[in-house]
Amino acid sequence: MDITLYKNKIINIISNNTTLENKLQTICDFLKLEIDYYDWVGFYFKNGIKQELKLAQFSGEPTEHIIIPFGKGICGQVALSNQNFVVQDVSEQQNYISCGINVKSEIVIPIFVNGENIGQIDIDSHALNPFTEEDTLLLEFVCQEVAKLGLLTII
Ligand code: SME
Repeated sequence: MDITLYKNKIINIISNNTTLENKLQTICDFLKLEIDYYDWVGFYFKNGIKQELKLAQFSGEPTEHIIIPFGKGICGQVALSNQNFVVQDVSEQQNYISCGINVKSEIVIPIFVNGENIGQIDIDSHALNPFTEEDTLLLEFVCQEVAKLGLLTII
């Protein structure tokens, strides 16, 4: 993984003169296209004052899991724990919401604005055990850049 190249591309996308929604969509499309084991890439954000996540932009198969209550699934757990969650094998997780039989692994990284966990990036993979420290570093960088976008206007 050429992490520097990917980070530069993310910086370019963030600095584009376009809407927040377009930037988030372009990030999803870019990551899914570039990284072959990223089969679904999406952003979930806290749904107003509710204790739930709502799906925003994504790239990949549509999912029925538009709303995820805090505490449910990998995503809902990250909403409460404020920690990265790297699942190399989803079959080992009890508290997991399946988004398709082909999904074997998942990584979720929270997005913080002013110290508050306001959402996350969620990646599903059809590969077992695909994620390395580089994925975590890249996705933390993506979340830091996304956090600069004035997201409080959409939550
Ligand atoms: N698998 C997630 C649900 C969201 S989908 O991956 C798009 C979870 O367990 O929270």
